[in-house]
Amino acid sequence: MYTTKEMQDRILQLKKENDVCILAHAYQSHDIWEVADYVGDSYGLSVQASKSDCKNVLMCGVRFMAETVKILSPEKRVLLSNSEADCPMANQMDADMILQLKEQNPGYAVAAYVNTTSELKTVCDVCVTSSSAVKIIKNMDAQDILFIPDCNLGEWVARQVPEKNIKLVHGGCPTHVRVSERDVNKAKALHPNALLLVHPECLPEVSQKADYVGSTTGIMDYAKNSDQKEFIIGTENSIVQHLQFMCPDKRFYPLSKDCVCHNMKMTTLGDVLNCVEGIGGEEITLSDEVMTKARACLDTMIKLG
Ligand code: 13P
Ligand code: SF4
Repeated sequence: MYTTKEMQDRILQLKKENDVCILAHAYQSHDIWEVADYVGDSYGLSVQASKSDCKNVLMCGVRFMAETVKILSPEKRVLLSNSEADCPMANQMDADMILQLKEQNPGYAVAAYVNTTSELKTVCDVCVTSSSAVKIIKNMDAQDILFIPDCNLGEWVARQVPEKNIKLVHGGCPTHVRVSERDVNKAKALHPNALLLVHPECLPEVSQKADYVGSTTGIMDYAKNSDQKEFIIGTENSIVQHLQFMCPDKRFYPLSKDCVCHNMKMTTLGDVLNCVEGIGGEEITLSDEVMTKARACLDTMIKLG
């Protein structure tokens, strides 16, 4: 049996020997953060993926993130650390649904949240992430935009870009929609001096009451740089723990105990060790057609973001 520290030391040694870059989404656990080369939000991970010069990339996160890395870095061997880790929102729409929507809405451009399959990205014009969506939608040439599939993120964006005609279709994050306005009222009553920081995947009635709305990285940066001492955190609850490590002199409270993403929790330090040992994970392979067409959508995201 190994201790956490022994497993981490072995991972650090093997990733160097085997030329592996470890990317971890901010929702991963603290023991995985400590062995990662880069930790961040979906946009940061995409940009980092296109910059890394390692031959192998290990994505600790969910499937669409590993697919994004593969599309942006086709020459690299990309592994998803746990093949079961998938984002339910990414599977709420497929390419046929988008083609139908385009037929019903001629002249509309399609902006897809990056939390979608690579197959779906082949029929969209641009991807957005929570940290880049407002800027990208503002920078798009199109005036009429179909925003898929997160209606909560879409509504938050639409409020900030009133000059565009944005139609929202058709889903949302099952983790963040569990947070209710009642949770906000309860948390504010319990912690009257705390600022409320939430992710735009939350329902509009939750994000409208927040002092700050932003991506996971945005929330962490805001809390780190603020002079305030107490914060209610309205995103996946791992961020509460990470912030407590980063800012031991401040206090962080979860907005809801139910804001837990089981898919993000699937990857363990053991999975990471197996991957760098060459006996675990799933290598991401995509057809040439998907690689080419989905790449255009991601390249536009990086260009406009
Ligand atoms: P960000 O990484 O953009 O903050 O999004 C959070 C999320 O739900 C990723 O799946
Ligand atoms: Fe998907 Fe929501 Fe989990 Fe992110 S938090 S991976 S959007 S289910």
